[in-house]
Amino acid sequence: MKRIAQFFPMKSLMAGLLGAWLATVGVAQTINLGSANVADFKVVYATAQDVVEGKRVAETMCVNCHGINGISVQKGVPNIAGQRPVYLHLEMKVYQVGGRGGNTMANTVKYMNDDAIMKVSAYYSSLEPAEGIVVSNAKSAKTKPDAISAGRAAAAACGGCHGEAGVSKTAGMPSLTGLDPKYFVAAINAYKGGQRKHDMMKALVSELTETEISNIALYYALQKAEKAGTPAVGNVAAGKTAAAGCVGCHGEGGVSGNPSTPSLAGQDSQYFAAVMRAYKDGSRSDATMKGPASSLDEASAKNLAAFYATQTPQSPKVGKPLSVAEWAERCDRCHGVNGNSTDPRAPALAAQRVDYLEKVLRAYKKGERKSKEMAVMSEGLDDALVDGLAIHYARQKARGISYLILPAPPTK
Ligand code: HEC
Ligand code: HEC
Ligand code: HEC
Ligand code: HEC
Repeated sequence: MKRIAQFFPMKSLMAGLLGAWLATVGVAQTINLGSANVADFKVVYATAQDVVEGKRVAETMCVNCHGINGISVQKGVPNIAGQRPVYLHLEMKVYQVGGRGGNTMANTVKYMNDDAIMKVSAYYSSLEPAEGIVVSNAKSAKTKPDAISAGRAAAAACGGCHGEAGVSKTAGMPSLTGLDPKYFVAAINAYKGGQRKHDMMKALVSELTETEISNIALYYALQKAEKAGTPAVGNVAAGKTAAAGCVGCHGEGGVSGNPSTPSLAGQDSQYFAAVMRAYKDGSRSDATMKGPASSLDEASAKNLAAFYATQTPQSPKVGKPLSVAEWAERCDRCHGVNGNSTDPRAPALAAQRVDYLEKVLRAYKKGERKSKEMAVMSEGLDDALVDGLAIHYARQKARGISYLILPAPPTK
């Protein structure tokens, strides 16, 4: 009798399946074994006969949705042709215990025995994988702009007052560069919620969604911080002396190290002086600033404003978000080069359907589909990245798994 085994875990076959597999996964990227046990790896040893019997199971139970070739023509139904056999096997067991929710798959596998599951997994994994979407289609597939581009677009409405790229050229208008996104978002929400009273700003930001606000904040934080192009009126030297009491919170030279405390370096001086008056008379109410502002007369407020306006601002330390390509590099560490997994537990993603990839990434993100690894990996993905990664993987060329005929093991 001849034995069939997949090419990719050959090393594992020789060195002991689980041990070698864990070794290939490595320390940095460890995939949680979950409930998998050695029996779940039986599919690796499937015989030619098993594959034939698996096809019969597929003909009676799976063709309506997955087709006999394992390439889906239905929205929401994944391609399973050429998928890694251990993964297919394990996922069917997961459906069986309701681990991916009560859906059509859960009903299908409910009464299947382990043997049938093993064989049908071997059958589908032995097939040629899907072609994947072609590039011209991928181009027309709508992608959402990334966070920074979306922020730039939304900020177009703000430049008239706050200046090109957030550097104010109009006396009385605050510059928006150099502000930490955390402070920025809190300021907008304070206008929206009415805690910071300013009817005009309230009207301007009232329609912005949470995502738009954070995109705008990110966009401004990543712009080059420059001093406002407005005149500084007041005595800089006197302002420097008065600023001694502000350094503890606003930082040396007005560059704040605390995301909730605004940087003051390079700020428009007329806005600055007006804000100090507002804190003093309570029209801008803030418990922290009430004290420092209350003892200031108009002249010292102007001097402080002049001093800070002449200081060199700095962009806050905000990491530039990763692009789709940079994310995909991280995903590939588990899912294989261009989504062609060589790890039995990690599914191949190459040439998978876009709609299915989007659906499951959102399910991981919301915790509806449980996986320790994918919960972590999907956490930082916004809608644009989910769509971008789905399209990225859908257009990769899929490599199936090669079957090798192995000599039958010695019989005693
Ligand atoms: C009534 C339609 C239907 C039938 C019949 C069906 N499936 Fe599915 N299958 C689905 C859908 C829909 C999903 C995606 C569900 C989800 O998001 O969890 C799925 C998902 C899967 C997955 C998970 C794939 C992955 O990439 O995670 C496997 C494996 C699978 N099916 C195998 C089979 C096998 C084998 C059979 C036959 C024994 C079968 N299915 C029968 C609709 C069906
Ligand atoms: C018509 C002019 C105008 C437009 C347009 C405008 N702003 Fe303002 N903005 C102001 C003024 C004036 C203030 C100061 C209000 C105050 O005293 O609280 C301000 C304050 C702010 C502040 C607080 C700055 C700080 O240092 O605390 C932020 C943040 C801000 N605007 C963001 C925006 C965004 C985002 C947009 C575009 C969606 C926008 N603004 C559009 C005039 C404008
Ligand atoms: C105990 C910490 C603390 C001290 C001391 C302090 N500040 Fe502040 N300051 C803050 C915080 C927090 C805010 C943000 C409050 C808000 O959202 O209105 C702020 C806001 C400001 C703003 C508004 C900036 C903007 O972009 O709208 C100015 C101007 C300012 N402070 C100036 C000063 C000056 C000048 C001094 C010294 C005389 C000083 N602060 C001392 C914590 C402090
Ligand atoms: C640390 C390893 C690891 C990393 C890194 C990783 N994944 Fe996964 N991924 C897994 C494992 C393990 C599974 C199977 C989990 C399960 O049982 O639901 C999985 C499942 C998936 C699935 C479900 C496929 C299917 O057929 O249902 C998708 C889609 C996916 N990952 C996409 C990604 C993307 C996109 C990234 C990068 C943002 C990523 N993964 C990064 C380990 C990883």
